[in-house]
Amino acid sequence: MTNNTNSAGSAPVGLLVGKVILITGASRGIGAAAARLFASEGAVVVLAARSTDALDPIVKEIRADGGAADAVPLDLADPASIRAAVDRVEELYGRLDGAFNNGGIAQQRPGPLDTTSDADIDGQFAVNFRSHWTAMTAEAALMRRNDGGAIVNTSGIGSRRAVPPLPAYGAMKRALNSLTETAAVTWAPEGIRVNGITPGGTATEMTEEWEAATPGVIEASAAATPLGRMAEPREVAEVAAWLLSDRASYVTGAIVPVDGGAGA
Ligand SMILES: NC(=O)c1ccc[n+]([C@@H]2O[C@H](COP(=O)([O-])OP(=O)(O)OC[C@H]3O[C@@H](n4cnc5c(N)ncnc54)[C@H](OP(=O)(O)O)[C@@H]3O)[C@@H](O)[C@H]2O)c1
Repeated sequence: MTNNTNSAGSAPVGLLVGKVILITGASRGIGAAAARLFASEGAVVVLAARSTDALDPIVKEIRADGGAADAVPLDLADPASIRAAVDRVEELYGRLDGAFNNGGIAQQRPGPLDTTSDADIDGQFAVNFRSHWTAMTAEAALMRRNDGGAIVNTSGIGSRRAVPPLPAYGAMKRALNSLTETAAVTWAPEGIRVNGITPGGTATEMTEEWEAATPGVIEASAAATPLGRMAEPREVAEVAAWLLSDRASYVTGAIVPVDGGAGA
């Protein structure tokens, strides 16, 4: 069914073999890289984004490589559609072992605190914060019917410090860290692990759009990073893969930096 990266005898030993994993924001960037990586590690992946049009080519590619993948539409601004996407996973597979809550948006207009619009604040709240709350509760409800599971939320390095150019984005990401820790403590007795990752600058369309709005941010991000460059999306997805795997069985409530040392 799935294409594993390693094999020892006849037993598949991919990091995520046999796990059903939902990935939001899977149409591009970190989420698309995660879908490909998790599938190559043996997971059955369910890709979610606003339209399945952008997901279908990735699903086809994964299937062509011998993996198992499906696409579901989901609008992170709409709680009902988030719940419907998790229901669809249940219809398809009857279980959920992992969830990578990764979809998100940058502020429409980068700018200082004083000029951030109410619409931008509301959009950030709905898509970058409330969506994860809704998704996690729906995911946990499905996970606890089996043996528990693991959830990883994509926060960002901006959650750890002041973010003058993106104040609403930074605030919602910090709120997400709080929710991640609370969910980890609340659901630990049920065998559901919850962790966050805080990527630094990562080479995706989101960063390109930010660069277009504020020229120079890519160079500045690389210059502020001890490893001297931005991350490739796959490098971020690798950390999520490990956190979702049983190899991270004693890790919960952690907010893990994936930032090339920029936060150190
Ligand atoms: N790139 C960076 O430097 C960086 C740094 C720190 C943290 N992050 C975080 O990492 C995550 C992924 O970022 P990325 O750079 O890969 O971004 P990206 O290239 O802009 O991709 C964002 C993904 O989120 C989806 N999405 C956006 N709004 C949505 C909505 N309302 N409903 C459903 N899906 C939605 C998009 O899908 P559709 O548009 O197809 O719906 C897309 O798949 C985000 O949470 C971001 O905040 C990124």
